[in-house]
Formats: sequence, C-alpha cells, structure tokens
Amino acid sequence: MRGENNLIENKTERVLYSRETIQKKVKEMGNKLGEIYKGKNLVVVSLLKGSFIFTADLTREMDIPLEVEFMTTESYGSGEYSSGNVKILQDIRGDIEGKNVLIVDDIIDTGNTLVKVIEHLKKKNPSSIEVCVMLDKPSRRQIDISPDYVGYVIPDVFIVGYGLNYGDYYRNTPYIFTFE
Ligand code: IMP
Ligand code: MG
Repeated sequence: MRGENNLIENKTERVLYSRETIQKKVKEMGNKLGEIYKGKNLVVVSLLKGSFIFTADLTREMDIPLEVEFMTTESYGSGEYSSGNVKILQDIRGDIEGKNVLIVDDIIDTGNTLVKVIEHLKKKNPSSIEVCVMLDKPSRRQIDISPDYVGYVIPDVFIVGYGLNYGDYYRNTPYIFTFE
C-alpha cells in the first residue's frame, strides 16, 4: 500500500498484473516495436503524467535510435475518469514533421484523450502516427479509436499502479491492482 495517507481505508488490494508479469509483457512489446520501427525516424510521444513509467520501461526495450517527447493533457470532469473535454496543458517541444510518431499512454478508456492528442499532432505533419497503450478498457469507449499496440485488454474496473493514480498517489506502485 503506497498511498501516503491510506486514501482508501478498509479496502484491500487485488493484484491484476505483478511486477514480473508487467516486465515480461513490456519487454515483448518493446522488442516488437524495435523491429517495427527499425530504420525509421521515430519520435515517442509520452503522455504525462500516467505514462512516465511505461514509457521509461518500454523505450529501454527498444534497441533503436529514437527521440522522446512529452505532452501533458488534462480532462475536466470527475476526478477519476476523463470527460470529453480534453485540454492540452503542455505541448511537445521538438519538430515531428516527416517523422514517425508513436504515442505512448498508460491506459485508453473513453478514448477522448488519445483522439484529441492525435488531432493535435496531425497538424504538425508527421509521416505516421501510431498509438501504444499498456491497458485498454474497450467497454468504456465513447469515440471510435483502437490503439495499434496494447499490453492488456481489461474490463471496466478502476485500476492503479504502474503510472496510474488514485488521487495523487500510487503511480509508483510497481504492479497494477484494483481495490476491493
Ligand atoms: P480517456 O481519455 O477516457 O481514454 O482516459 C484516459 C485517462 O484516464 C488515462 O490516461 C488515465 O489517466 C485515466 N484513467 C482511465 N481509467 C483509469 C483507471 O482505471 N485508473 C486510473 N486512471 C484511469
Ligand atoms: Mg493519463
């Protein structure tokens, strides 16, 4: 339990994916992406804050030259889930014109964040844009988008750890879990 002040008392953790399981999956994904993007001009665009850990692990499994950019998005609505109203708080800094972009995020839920980010990045004229997420909750989709690379497809449960937060905590928990 890494929530500093026991945010959710009287609840126990149910681990969905252990640290070892995640490591193995991320290695597979990274190795595959390294093959796919070999010889291409790759820019990984990591969406903050949620994907900082996944991006760090994934890119270290990709044995090819690549650039990393960061973007911060925010969605208004309830604290836990995103609304359709996604705002870009911080843009990437580098030039992606003519380059191949791989957007990396922790989870795709309604899809609103990724659709907004793709629309935004398209205006910068990259040669391609693909999306890689660790987790996919397809049952919650509000907008038509399917990520190109997915770690795990999960049902509609609220999960935390491995970059995913509850309140401002649990992002540093090295495994993915839910409360019950
Ligand atoms: P979307 O725009 O609805 O696809 O939501 C994307 C963002 O919502 C993710 O990057 C997360 O920050 C957040 N989110 C969605 N589901 C969960 C969850 O189960 N746990 C923690 N954060 C979540
Ligand atoms: Mg996020």
